[in-house]
Amino acid sequence: MCGIFGAVSSVDIQKDLIEGLFKLEYRGYDSAGLSLISKSSKIKRIRCTGKVKELKKLLSTSKVTGKCGIAHTRWATHGIPNLRNSHPHNSGPFSIVHNGIIENSDELKLILIKKGFKFTSDTDSEVIAHLLASCVTKKKGLLEIVLAALDKLKGSFALAVIHQDNPDSIIVASNGSPLLIGIGKSATYIASDIHALISKTKKYIPLEDNELAIVSRNNVSLYNQKGKKITRSPLITKQSSKTVSKNGFKHYMQKEIFEQKDIIDRVIKDRLGSKTILPNIFGPKSDVMLKSIKHVHFVACGTSYNASLIAKYWIEELSDIMCTAEIASEYRYRTINVPNDTLFVAISQSGETADTIYSVKKAKSSNYKSILSICNVPESTITRLSDYSYLMQAGPEISVASTKAFTSQLIALLLLSTTLSRSSAKYSVEYEIVKQIKTLPKILDKTFELEKDMKIMAKQFKNKHHTLFLGRGASYPIALEAALKLKEISYIHAEGYAAGELKHGPLALVDKDMPVVGLMPDNNLVNQVLSNLSEVKARHGLVYIFTNKKMKLKKNDKTKIITMPACGHYIAPLVYVIPMQLLSYHVAIFKKTNIDQPRNLAKSVTVE
Ligand code: M6R
Repeated sequence: MCGIFGAVSSVDIQKDLIEGLFKLEYRGYDSAGLSLISKSSKIKRIRCTGKVKELKKLLSTSKVTGKCGIAHTRWATHGIPNLRNSHPHNSGPFSIVHNGIIENSDELKLILIKKGFKFTSDTDSEVIAHLLASCVTKKKGLLEIVLAALDKLKGSFALAVIHQDNPDSIIVASNGSPLLIGIGKSATYIASDIHALISKTKKYIPLEDNELAIVSRNNVSLYNQKGKKITRSPLITKQSSKTVSKNGFKHYMQKEIFEQKDIIDRVIKDRLGSKTILPNIFGPKSDVMLKSIKHVHFVACGTSYNASLIAKYWIEELSDIMCTAEIASEYRYRTINVPNDTLFVAISQSGETADTIYSVKKAKSSNYKSILSICNVPESTITRLSDYSYLMQAGPEISVASTKAFTSQLIALLLLSTTLSRSSAKYSVEYEIVKQIKTLPKILDKTFELEKDMKIMAKQFKNKHHTLFLGRGASYPIALEAALKLKEISYIHAEGYAAGELKHGPLALVDKDMPVVGLMPDNNLVNQVLSNLSEVKARHGLVYIFTNKKMKLKKNDKTKIITMPACGHYIAPLVYVIPMQLLSYHVAIFKKTNIDQPRNLAKSVTVE
C-alpha cells in the first residue's frame, strides 16, 4: 500500500519526484526513497525512514541528479519500516519500486538465493529486483526480461523499473494495483493516482490488469502480458490541481468535520428539487435501472462499510427491497449467490481500496443487474469499473480518519434508499425525506455548538483504556463508527455494539472505569436503549447519553446527558455522528497523537 511516482524528462527531475511523492503520501508514510539514472549511466538511490519531507532534506544535501527516475512512499506490509526495507530495491542494473503484495515471494526468494542473489531487506518487493536480474540473458531485450520476470510473479503489483543502460525509459506493469501514465509536453510521468499527475498534465493512460508499458520522454508503448503491442487513446482528466490547505484549522480532520455542513448545502443545491430528488442522480438512465431492483448488496471497508450498514436500515424500512451489507475483504473470497435483479453497490471514499476494487471485479463477472459505485474521487479505479457512479463531491479528504466522506456517503445512501422506495407499493416518503435533508444545515450548526461539551468529555476520556459505544437501529452503525474514530486517532480501545448485545458478553467488561456512550435519538427504540444503559449503571459504569428525547433523565455522577438538537428520524445518523467525530478529535488533541496521520495507517488501503 504505497505510492509510486516517476518521470522521464529532458531536464533534471528530482523536484518533480518529491512533489509527486508528497501528493501520494496518503497511501503510506513509513519511509520514502527514489532512484535516478545519473549522467554516467549509474543508478543513484536515496532512501530514508519517515516521511517524504525527510527524503526532501536528504536530497537537498546530495548531488544526485538525473532525467529519468522512480520514487516511492511506503506503508509497510512485509518487513518493518526501516531503511533497508525502504524502496527502491536494486539488483544488478535494475532499480524497482512496487505497490502490492507478491504472494509467492518466499518461494522465489529460495530459488534466487540458490542462484547466488543476496537479499538485503525483509520485503516481498526485493524479489522483483533480483528476479529481473536473474532473467537477463544476452539475447533478451529489456521488454523480454521484464515479461519473463512478470511471468513468475503471483500477487498484486504496480511496478516501475529502471535499468542503468536505458537512461531514457521506465518500464511499468500493473496487476490489481493502479498505475497511471501521464503524458506531458516535454516529459512523461507515472503515478499511483491522478492527483499526483494533474499539476503536470491532464492527459493520461491508466494501465489495465496484466499490461505493461515502456515509457519514454516522447513515447508510451503499451503491451499485454504476452508482449503484444496494444493501442489505447489517452484520457483527459476533468480534475484541477488545486492544493488543499487547512484553511486556518489546526488539523485537516478538524477542517473536514466543519466542512460537512457546506457539503450538505451542495447536495441540496445539486441533487434536490423543491420536494423531490432530481432525476438520474446515480448516472444516465439510473432511475429506470433502479426501478427494476429487487435486492441490494453493499460492499465496502471501514467507515464506508459503516455507512452501508445504515443504508440497510433505511432501504428495508422504506421499500420491499432486501438488502445486505458486507465487508469487502470477506466478500471477495467467499462463494456468493446472487438473486436476479440485484444491485451491487461499492462504497469507497478513495475509489482505490484494494479489497473493494477486487469485489467490484468479482461482482462484474457475477449475476448482478448493475454495478453502482459511491465514491469521492472522480476517475478513480472503482468509478471507472462501475456501470453507474455517484460522486460524493465532498472535496479531497486528507485526514486519514474519515469524517466528511462518511456524512457524504450517508446523504448519497439516503437518496439511493429514497429513490429505490419509489418502486415499492408500500408508501412513499420522498417529500418528507427531502424536507428533512433540507433542515440539516441548520441542525448541524447547532450540533457543532456541542464542541465545548465534547472538549470537557474528551478530558474525562483521555486517560481511559477502553470505551463502549451503544446504539440500536440506525444508531448501531453510528456506534461502530464512533468506536472506529476513537481507536484510530486516540489509540484508546473502543468497541461499538448493538445495545441489545451488551448482556451477551461485553457487559463483563463494565466497571467503574469504563465509559459507555449511548446514542439515543428520539425514536421507538428509546426505552430499549435506556434499559441497556441501566444494566451498565447497575455495574457502576460511567454512562454518557446523547439524546434529543425530552425526558426527565436525572443527571448524576454516573450519568451525563448530552442534549442533541431535535432532528427528523431519517437524518438522525448524520447528526449523531458529529459529536462522535468531535469527541475523538479532542481526545486525540489531549493525547497529542498525530491526528491527520495516525500511526500504522494510511489514507488509502491499496493492498489486501
Ligand atoms: O477509501 P475507502 O472509503 O474505500 O476506505 C475504506 C477504509 O479504509 C476507510 O474508511 C477507513 O476505515 C478510514 N480511515 C476510517 O476513518
